[in-house]
Amino acid sequence: MPETARPNRVTPSPGAGRGEGRATDSGPGPRHAPTPEGLSTCSTARWPRCLDRGPREGGLGNRVGAAPPAGIVRAGSARHRSPGSDCVRRGGVGTIRASDGRPRYGLHRERPPSARSARRRRRARRSRTSRGVGHARRRRHDRHPTRPAAQPAGAPARGARDHPPSRPDPADRRAPPACAARARAHLAVGTVARIRCPRCDESVDRAAPPVGCPRCRGVLDAEVDLSQIARGLAPEIRRRPRGLWRWREFLPIADPGAVVTLGEGDTPLVPARRLGAEIGLERLYIKNDTVLPTGSLKDRSVTVALSHAREVKATTVAVSSTGNHAASVAAYAAAAGLKAIVMVPASTAAAKVVQARAHGACVVAVRGPFDRTAALCREALAAFGWYSCLSTNPWRNEGKKSYAFETWEQLDGEVPAWMIHPIAGGLGVAATWKGWRELNALGWARGMPRLVVAQAAAAAPIVRAWEAGVPDPVPVTPAETVAESIAVGSPSLGGRALDALRATGGAAVACADAEILVAQARLARFAGIFCEPAAATSLAAAAALAGQGRIRPQDLVVCTVTGHGLKQPADAAARAEPLLTIDPSLSELEGHLRRNPL
Ligand SMILES: Cc1ncc(COP(=O)(O)O)c(C=O)c1O
Ligand SMILES: [Zn+2]
Repeated sequence: MPETARPNRVTPSPGAGRGEGRATDSGPGPRHAPTPEGLSTCSTARWPRCLDRGPREGGLGNRVGAAPPAGIVRAGSARHRSPGSDCVRRGGVGTIRASDGRPRYGLHRERPPSARSARRRRRARRSRTSRGVGHARRRRHDRHPTRPAAQPAGAPARGARDHPPSRPDPADRRAPPACAARARAHLAVGTVARIRCPRCDESVDRAAPPVGCPRCRGVLDAEVDLSQIARGLAPEIRRRPRGLWRWREFLPIADPGAVVTLGEGDTPLVPARRLGAEIGLERLYIKNDTVLPTGSLKDRSVTVALSHAREVKATTVAVSSTGNHAASVAAYAAAAGLKAIVMVPASTAAAKVVQARAHGACVVAVRGPFDRTAALCREALAAFGWYSCLSTNPWRNEGKKSYAFETWEQLDGEVPAWMIHPIAGGLGVAATWKGWRELNALGWARGMPRLVVAQAAAAAPIVRAWEAGVPDPVPVTPAETVAESIAVGSPSLGGRALDALRATGGAAVACADAEILVAQARLARFAGIFCEPAAATSLAAAAALAGQGRIRPQDLVVCTVTGHGLKQPADAAARAEPLLTIDPSLSELEGHLRRNPL
């Protein structure tokens, strides 16, 4: 990966200097690793590339453009020697040899751990796992008084209030899904330090249902305890089987047996030279999330949400969605043996509805724009007590921190100048920001990318707020747009996304439908990536910022492309010339090629 020397300057942005994101405004700029509130900082630590790469030259960090994720997380062997490596893992403790040949045991340990201390650590880990947060939570649930079952007339999912359950559900006695059982064998897990409201600082009982802040209705945040994460863990993570759960210490699931995974994460970071040349960018990368198990970014958050749902013994999960989230929740619920109710606007692309129904979910098509669907879902969650997979679920939201983790690793520790994300509820940018803050707090990364919200002009509440310099999104009624997946008028995490833009010196860009369709076509023709229109908004925003000179040609730019083209192929189909058929003869073929030159 070539290095570029880039100044760490932040150009003033609209809205800079307001609100929570002010921390970096007067400082040296976001590349100088702001110390995030609530995160401990490892002041002595510096990112040692040689240590991380070890003797396997190139290391796993050179995975740019690598193949899609390789299936379900596999149980690792307790004792493993990588071919051609002198990195030896014993029960999860990494031994890495420095250039002088002496073993180094992580950054903070000079001497090899004694067998006794290793035994003590193993015992502590075992007892942490068996008495973890999930178990405490379950015990507390058991003490909840039985609530009357509010059963909706004709409701598709029968029975108990899911969160907390009124009585043990027979589903609880079912064997855990095979993927969870396999994952249980080797996962150490992340621990939630607290569930906190960033807006009013209220701390909330972690056993409470995963909905908004009881005091101000803000979106709660799950703070994962980073103090358990040793610096030596970075190389260990790199050696784990691929997938999002490699980063499990950063994810708020205490019970490894609850993990539901379809092999999500570790999507390719594709160097897109031909595409970059089209829009004047020399170092353009596409984070290709179209290859996730259900074809969209939603799998990153849903794997964590449904793992938490299993952890708290929920039986029915519910969500409102513009389509992709519905399909993802349906798939993960199927794998986990949970019932799923997904509500979508009646106008949702047929393929997404077919996909959700194929997984056995109860799909409810609701008349009107998405915000009406969302309001109905919130009402139903309150009435029937299903487990909420909405973006107000703080557990769910942790999954998308993986954008930061994976990008950092795939760029071999280099921090991109820009990361651009198509945005609906705001989570993509908010969680990416949190992920980078955690990497900085641990001393693994130095600096932040400028984060960019890309929205369709037809539904741009965050862009409006950004341009007006106000801290919260300006709600809109979405107009019709090709980017239907991101047509959300009141984004629940919009305020946090705006904080991220301010703190990183980023930007918010509204893209016209025509620009989005051009970007979709360019991705297909110049990068080999066929995505749905909403997913191309990031590239449309990159082109706009490059055209304005805001992004410089040599900046390293990562555009997240978030949903597969086959989920909503109508616009690409409408753009194409009519498909003519010929008889199977060479002369007809020659005639066809004359009329349609290559
Ligand atoms: C294809 C696609 N891209 C991006 C998003 C943005 O999601 P968020 O703003 O919640 O990160 C969505 C959400 O539905 C989506 O379906
Ligand atoms: Zn609050």
